[in-house]
Amino acid sequence: MSTPNLGFPTTRLRRLRYNPAVRRLVRETQLAPGDFILPLFVRPGKGERREIASMPGHAQLSPDMIAAEAEEAAKLGLGGIILFGIPEHKDALGSDSYSDDGIVQHGIRAAKAAAPDLLCVTDVCFCEYTDHGHCGVLDRSTGRMDVNNDATLELLAKQAASHARAGADMIAPSGMMDGMVGAIRRGLDAAGFAHVPIVSYAAKYASAFYGPFRDAAESTPQAGDRRGYQMDAAAAAEQAIREVQLDLDEGADIVMVKPALAYLDVIARVRAAFPGVPLAAYNVSGEYSMVKAAAARGWLDERAVALEMLTAIKRAGAGIVLTYWAKDVARWLA
Ligand code: PBG
Repeated sequence: MSTPNLGFPTTRLRRLRYNPAVRRLVRETQLAPGDFILPLFVRPGKGERREIASMPGHAQLSPDMIAAEAEEAAKLGLGGIILFGIPEHKDALGSDSYSDDGIVQHGIRAAKAAAPDLLCVTDVCFCEYTDHGHCGVLDRSTGRMDVNNDATLELLAKQAASHARAGADMIAPSGMMDGMVGAIRRGLDAAGFAHVPIVSYAAKYASAFYGPFRDAAESTPQAGDRRGYQMDAAAAAEQAIREVQLDLDEGADIVMVKPALAYLDVIARVRAAFPGVPLAAYNVSGEYSMVKAAAARGWLDERAVALEMLTAIKRAGAGIVLTYWAKDVARWLA
């Protein structure tokens, strides 16, 4: 005999909401400091802290300042940090990114010395390091600002190995080159880093929400845009599934969807299609800055909105969230 469908007044869902203790009991999505990864921007110098106007509370930091942030992140129990390098000199190939004396390598060493147990991830891409601001080597033969996919792969592998040599615990390729995960995996393995995992920005969209980040990383393309390699927001969500599948086949250990908020459907689809695969989402700069701006005007309650956003991202299926609020959340939850 099947259970009769008892509607109102036998069923009252408000009963689950009346008592705060019951509300807490049935709350399935929980936030913990260890879920969050804090993005940090490394620049050359000593004692340098250059505020990023469009991202209040965030700054470009010299390696010694990165060390202090890493210590704080460890104390707060964060899941880790992810480093982005902003070199003194940019060139056509983004050579600072694969130099063992490069800026991000200095940042990694400083962070690991200050907080050896804190997970240190590095963004592996070229846009912060190239003078043209694109995510790879340019192919000028086509007459448009085109990134040469296959020529970029070799340099990505070189960059990843250099980050690992400096002490990076995990590598996060974000350039959306076809074959990037496989190339990096082979590069890491050959350099003796078979144990270093790859978290791939597998489904990364060409998004206007990256605006403030490009100020922070000084990585706005000099000409053209990133639509030739990042995904189209209007593409079928199944394309994201294909991207994730390919990255897993190439050896990705964790996959990421980016941005997060406008792509919660993609997060949920990827979660459902790949149960058991660790899934991350990037709560990007624009998602942070728009709340900061509204909060500064008294239009939104920053803490409440940020916690609601992060809860939604986790509820959609991302267990790991990269967010500029990472330190704040840890304090809010304490
Ligand atoms: C590329 C990269 C970008 C972000 C992370 N890695 C920018 C881009 O693709 O233009 C954006 C992050 C954010 O907006 O917070 N290296």
